[in-house]
Amino acid sequence: MKNPVMLAAGILGTTGASLKRAAQSGAGGVVTKSVGVAPREGHRGPTVVQVEGGLLNAMGLPNPSYHNFQEEIDIGREGGVPVVASIFGSGPEEFVEVAEGLEADGFELNLSCPHAERYGAEIGCEACNVEEITRTVKESVAVPVWVKLTPNVADIVGLGLAAQRGGADGVVAINTLKAMAIDVESGRPILGNRFGGLSGPAIKPVAIRCVYDLASALEIPVIGVGGVSSWQDAAEIIMAGAAGVQVGTALGGVEGYAVFRSITEGLSSYLDRKGMTLEELRGLARRFS
Ligand code: SIN
Repeated sequence: MKNPVMLAAGILGTTGASLKRAAQSGAGGVVTKSVGVAPREGHRGPTVVQVEGGLLNAMGLPNPSYHNFQEEIDIGREGGVPVVASIFGSGPEEFVEVAEGLEADGFELNLSCPHAERYGAEIGCEACNVEEITRTVKESVAVPVWVKLTPNVADIVGLGLAAQRGGADGVVAINTLKAMAIDVESGRPILGNRFGGLSGPAIKPVAIRCVYDLASALEIPVIGVGGVSSWQDAAEIIMAGAAGVQVGTALGGVEGYAVFRSITEGLSSYLDRKGMTLEELRGLARRFS
């Protein structure tokens, strides 16, 4: 990639036009919305609510299925940067069916969505599943395979090591934190699914810790995601050990698509000011143990 700042899965990645626009706005790579074997409408609404420090979503993996998604990837590729397809399945067979059915520059295995029955974290919280699914997909495709991990476990490093044993080319940390909001007038859970996943600034310190632990234990690259909205956030997650950075919830902020350029330019001026390379910045905080 021409720069390490990417569009995260699930944000604006439903259409080729938005993938292309993210690329043209300065993203070094783009990740699609997660797609599976069959079309899904997702959870009933409300599916997103703003809370202190971020957004709570329970989309429920809505997608048109891989059968109806190649065109979006192809349009996204017109942006001139790698398009990584985020894919999900209920087990190795479904993951492989989707991966073999799509042509993308890489795959990100969603083993971490915290609110979809039979998918995501329900299977991705077990290291044996992570290893088996990673290995099966890796054996079926010729492009890089990343595994997006759930932070909703006691030991995320165990999951990262499982992905590495399965042959992953990288891990992506973190997906959202399982969370809930309740309307105090009615007493009703606000999201249609009752609980969902928290993203945005509130989860950044959790992401920093997870990236730090993973980068200390793994030999494969760790891509950091979670609450990154400025070049300072990007620098922080790279100092924790991230080889690349994904931006999600911040796309809904005032900067919109311009956030990619402001992060990459800010990071580049910072490196110039410090007289450092990105490589020298990576994992800097791990020297202070
Ligand atoms: C969704 O589409 O339900 C969100 C995906 C995720 O949290 O991984």
